[in-house]
Amino acid sequence: MGTEIYYFSGTGNSLVVARDMARKIGGELIPIASMVDKEVIKTDADIIGIVFPTYYEPYGGVPLIVRKFARKLEDMDSKYIFAICTYGSASVKALNCLDNIIKSRGGKISAGFTVNMPNNMAGAKINNVQKQQQMFRVWEENMESIYEHVNVRKEGRFDIPNVLVGRTYVLLKIIVNPIISLFKPMTLRHLKRYSDSRDGSYEELLQFMDRSFYTNDKCAGCGNCAKICPVKNIEMVEEQPKWQHRCEFCLACFHWCPKEAICSSELEGTVRYHHPDVKVSDMILKD
Ligand SMILES: Cc1cc2nc3c(=O)[nH]c(=O)nc-3n(C[C@H](O)[C@H](O)[C@H](O)COP(=O)(O)O)c2cc1C
Repeated sequence: MGTEIYYFSGTGNSLVVARDMARKIGGELIPIASMVDKEVIKTDADIIGIVFPTYYEPYGGVPLIVRKFARKLEDMDSKYIFAICTYGSASVKALNCLDNIIKSRGGKISAGFTVNMPNNMAGAKINNVQKQQQMFRVWEENMESIYEHVNVRKEGRFDIPNVLVGRTYVLLKIIVNPIISLFKPMTLRHLKRYSDSRDGSYEELLQFMDRSFYTNDKCAGCGNCAKICPVKNIEMVEEQPKWQHRCEFCLACFHWCPKEAICSSELEGTVRYHHPDVKVSDMILKD
């Protein structure tokens, strides 16, 4: 019995959402990164929350690590599962994509919510500080309604208001949904840039995105990036980060570097960002 909230987060948006919900509901907060290497994931909790960022919508929008986690869930049939997906511009497929994986494990996402947060990808340029503040405010104002849904075990899909496009978001989703897969070849080209494989799957290719990272001369060899990487993809060699090609491309190393010394050829001009209510120590997994 009880409530468990599992989360994955690169820059803190999904962590804040998961943490706020755990406090409100009185549930246990568990990093997905601490579970994903287990062979199977079973729990006695009867309410399960899964909070994650949207990644690469044309490929379904669910980060690799969250897919791996969901594929290991067992005995899900009698649970009330809710999922909250944070996103930068639009999250159209992610909840259904995760639902399909959980259905293959015998459960289902009973209630799904999307929350607009600052975009930590290249598009971060479109979120000025004022817009960011507005997004945080909208989250705080709507948290209660998610809680109320979960409390009475309500079912369905619910969008927290989108700060960037307002009421037209619903319309945008309807229009974008059927055509989003058309953007797959573009995303594939972007992923293939860093892999030697000519026909690797999305999952294989993503891991090589770390070849886009490099350090500038501000790197002091502090090792913050190695500590913060949720999948332990960075080893420090002669006080320099070396990426090990099992990358999630969560951008934690890029955004949290205290010297702004980690760069990526995919993120030229992107302003470093992390959620203001999250500290480095909140992001580092406890052993
Ligand atoms: C690799 C990657 C892909 C992303 N793809 C999308 C996307 O397809 N649609 C979208 O709206 N936001 C996208 N985003 C933005 C994130 O979903 C958003 O900023 C999220 O709130 C980040 O959460 P976090 O701080 O918990 O990591 C992407 C971010 C990354 C790093």
